[in-house]
Amino acid sequence: MMQNAELAKGIYQVGAVDWITRDFHGYRTPRGVTYNSYLIVDEKICLIDTVKAPFARELLERISQIVDPEKINYVVVNHVEPDHSSALPAIMQAAPKAKVIITEQGRSEVLKYFGREYDFRVVKNDDSLSLGQRTLKFVPLPMLHWPDSMATYLVEDQILFSNDAFGQHYSTNFKFDDENDLAELFYEAKKYYANILMPFSKLVSKALDSLGLLPIKMIAPSHGLIWRSHAVDILGLYNKWSMGITEPLILVVYDSMWGSTETMARRILEGLTASGVKAKLFRMSESDKSELVAELLMARGLIVGSSTLNNGMLPNMAALLYYIKGLKPINKSGAAFGAYGWAGGAQAELEQSLKAAGIPIELAGPTLKWAPTQEEIQNCFDFGFAFGQKTLGR
Ligand code: FEO
Repeated sequence: MMQNAELAKGIYQVGAVDWITRDFHGYRTPRGVTYNSYLIVDEKICLIDTVKAPFARELLERISQIVDPEKINYVVVNHVEPDHSSALPAIMQAAPKAKVIITEQGRSEVLKYFGREYDFRVVKNDDSLSLGQRTLKFVPLPMLHWPDSMATYLVEDQILFSNDAFGQHYSTNFKFDDENDLAELFYEAKKYYANILMPFSKLVSKALDSLGLLPIKMIAPSHGLIWRSHAVDILGLYNKWSMGITEPLILVVYDSMWGSTETMARRILEGLTASGVKAKLFRMSESDKSELVAELLMARGLIVGSSTLNNGMLPNMAALLYYIKGLKPINKSGAAFGAYGWAGGAQAELEQSLKAAGIPIELAGPTLKWAPTQEEIQNCFDFGFAFGQKTLGR
């Protein structure tokens, strides 16, 4: 017998935990993934979101422990990305009388993905649906993070079914925030925001304004844990992250062929430390880019370094900067450094990539040929110190 967490009387989490997945379209998920789905049993029965297709059977088994799936009247599709909707055909087969509640954009995506019509009811902002004793209200959240994205609000219980927003890739058998390690949970929420929602920060701010009009007791996302005791805290963090608030933290991220660029990175870090700023060092060949951008979210500066290879930067740095460009970080400043052999090239490419990612160059970084001299090592320290002082002044 599977356990289904009960959020309030008659409201259950019936989704699946994917303990295995470690790569979610390029986002590393060392703590696995969950696909949450919620069942509301009232005079009418409603399922909010489904799961990824391989977990359809588990979802149906969980629902069957509570009600016969055939009795489901409504399936709300908050978002059509396949991690939430690829089990829809299986659910609709088991619940053939159900109406599909969806935005207009979502409807066209379902038609294209699954190539078939359902009994759709298209909803827009502020539309509501009575389930009997309870009422659902729909809050489209376009581009958070797809055009079809929507949240569903349960008026009487003040629960926001937020789909991707406020999620985390975090697998545990305990479904609520207060039953788990809070430091891990908040870290995973930050990492999720940085990797999934950072490009849409302006829209997140706007969405928070509309959601702020609703009294919210609980936030039930479609990934990870349910915010039962810390809904206010995660709303506050989203506010801070979406505004681009930074702390005096500088990341020094580099890759090195034969050690000279690494020596430079360490001296730059010492200079930053001497200036009084907080700084962290990452060698990209040994680091994970999903975790690195979680650190970048609140960092004020990004100093990147690379040895020159084929007149350009090392591939690990190129991959990172390409990824960061797509995330459109705000309120950061940058610099580039690196060592070369007979001809340079990496530093100019690094600077171009920073600018392309919307990170202006704060200060020209050091460069050197072959191995560093004592004077060049001192230059790296001085550069780090100056960058740190500028950071503290911002
Ligand atoms: Fe969790 Fe955008 O899907």
